[in-house]
Parts: sequence; structure tokens; C-alpha cells
Amino acid sequence: MLETHPIVDVRATIIKTRRICTDVSIITLNCPFIAARAKPGNFVNVKVSNTSQPLLRRPFSIHDVQGDFIDIMVKSIGCGTSLFCDSEAGSSVMVLGPLGNCFTIDDYDFNTAILVSGGIGTAPMRFLEKTLVVHGKKVINLIGGRTKNDLLAQNLSNCRLATDDGSTGFKGTVIDLLDRDLRDIEKEGSIKLFGCGPNPMLKVLAKFSQEHRIACDISLESVMGCGIGICYGCSVEINTTDEGIRTILLCREGPVIDAKLLVV
Ligand SMILES: Cc1cc2nc3c(=O)[nH]c(=O)nc-3n(C[C@H](O)[C@H](O)[C@H](O)COP(=O)(O)OP(=O)(O)OC[C@H]3O[C@@H](n4cnc5c(N)ncnc54)[C@H](O)[C@@H]3O)c2cc1C
Ligand code: FES
Repeated sequence: MLETHPIVDVRATIIKTRRICTDVSIITLNCPFIAARAKPGNFVNVKVSNTSQPLLRRPFSIHDVQGDFIDIMVKSIGCGTSLFCDSEAGSSVMVLGPLGNCFTIDDYDFNTAILVSGGIGTAPMRFLEKTLVVHGKKVINLIGGRTKNDLLAQNLSNCRLATDDGSTGFKGTVIDLLDRDLRDIEKEGSIKLFGCGPNPMLKVLAKFSQEHRIACDISLESVMGCGIGICYGCSVEINTTDEGIRTILLCREGPVIDAKLLVV
């Protein structure tokens, strides 16, 4: 669903940064306007340095909201994210948001939400979990990574882990783990799936959800520039029921889509 809500571009003070593993930090920003309006699945576009390098902003999911503050979970993979992870408390960055649409939690009456995430895809799950709990839903987190060092289960509850190499938890992919546990979880009532992670993982999850006829929202990633529908840098093809394949701008009509719409 395309959300229309006010967005702001504000200079936000970095309140604190916590390195939670070698290459991932949680950064707390003072952003009252964004904190008050954010919904799970929304993201912000951050100018990570006060110089022209890097020129473009970088998109990050909103990991958590507490009062006037938002938390961002950042994995250092290149110049922008490493600069952001190295930022110091007391400095500031320009933050545009809240952007994009959100996960849908009131489209039908489900009892249990299964949050399926891989790698840095766990970033939006903390805020989503908190919101689902407020709505009276039971939440189970299925979290996958290549090894135990890639799992980011901090701040999430009811976690079941999967690693490709078996270094902790279930040995296999997070979708294999879902396949193993689904029947037992289904005994407790209706389910909705929520996914975020690498796009290949989301394709497998989308196929799985369709085969099992379970509602599923997924949050996709693409390269982004402006974050507000101007640069056309984030176009993604999706299926539609009536028009065949259609191109959307992920920053406006995403990042969350119904898994049925993913071109697999
Ligand atoms: C809607 C959305 C939400 C996101 N949320 C988060 C989040 O919560 N936490 C987080 O750490 N990251 C998140 N990302 C990804 C993050 O924006 C990128 O990692 C970041 O822009 C990379 O910037 P960089 O300057 O460090 O890397 P660059 O120096 O620009 O690139 C380094 C390498 O990473 C690749 N790369 C760049 N962007 C992406 C991407 N989006 N996906 C995969 N590979 C990429 C490049 O092709 C290049 O090979 C999100 C992306 C989107 C679109
Ligand atoms: S990022 Fe510019 S149009 Fe989507």
C-alpha cells in the first residue's frame, strides 16, 4: 500500500553508538518528528557525512523507536556505512524520513507473526515485533546467517536460529527452519509471515508462502538515491494481478510488498 505521510529532513544529533559485533553498530538519533510518525518497515535516508563524500544519502530501516529517539542498525559494508558506524556521540547527521510504506499488521486476523530475517535483514524486526505485541500478536523470530557471527538476534524475543554451517542453531537456511517448524506453529492458530533479508532469500520465502498459502509481507532492498521518488534509482519490477509486470519505485511503493507480487 502506498503511504502518504509528512516527511522531514532534519539535522539529528547522534545520542550514542554501540558496536554489537565487528561490523554492526546500533546508532541512536534524536529525531522527535520522525520518531512520532514512524511505522515498522519505514526507513530513513541519511547523509552520513558533512562533506560531499559520499555525495548520496544511504537508506536504513528504522530499527527501534523510543520516545524522541530512533535506533538504526548499521552493517559496515562500504564507505558510507563505515563512516556512519564510526560516527561519534554528539555529532550530527541529516536524516530524511520517515520514508516508504510499512508492514501491514491489520489486514486480516492472524494469531502468530513469524518474522523471518537474514543477516542485516533483522534491522526492522525490533520495531515490528514491539508493534505486533502491542496489537496482541504472538511473535516468533526465525533468524538466519551464514555462521553464528552473522546472526543479529539482539533485542528480539522468542528467537530460533539457523546457520548455513551449523555453528549454532539449526543447520540450514532460515527457510528450511521455517519449513521444519511451520506445522507445529500452525497448530496454535493462523499465521502471517514477515520477511527481510537478502533478495535471494526473500524469493525463496515468497515461493514458500505461496505454496503454503500463507500471507507474507517482505521488505526488499535496492540501490537508492533520493528516497522520495525523484531520481528513479530504485525501480523494481513486480507482478500485478491485472497489468502483468509493473515497475514501481521501491522508495515510494515499497520497501514492503506483498510476497505474491515478487517476481521470482
Ligand atoms: C529500504 C532499505 C533499507 C535498508 N536498511 C538497512 C539497515 O537497516 N541497515 C543496514 O546496514 N543497511 C540497510 N540497507 C542497505 C544500506 O543502505 C547499504 O548497505 C548502504 O547504502 C551501503 O552504503 P555504503 O556506502 O556503505 O556502500 P557502497 O560503498 O555504496 O557499496 C559497497 C558495496 O555494497 C553494495 N551495496 C550497496 N548498497 C547495497 C544494498 N542496498 N544491498 C546490497 N548491496 C549493496 C555495492 O554494490 C558495493 O558492492 C537498506 C537498504 C534499503 C534500500
Ligand atoms: S530512490 Fe530516488 S526514486 Fe527511489
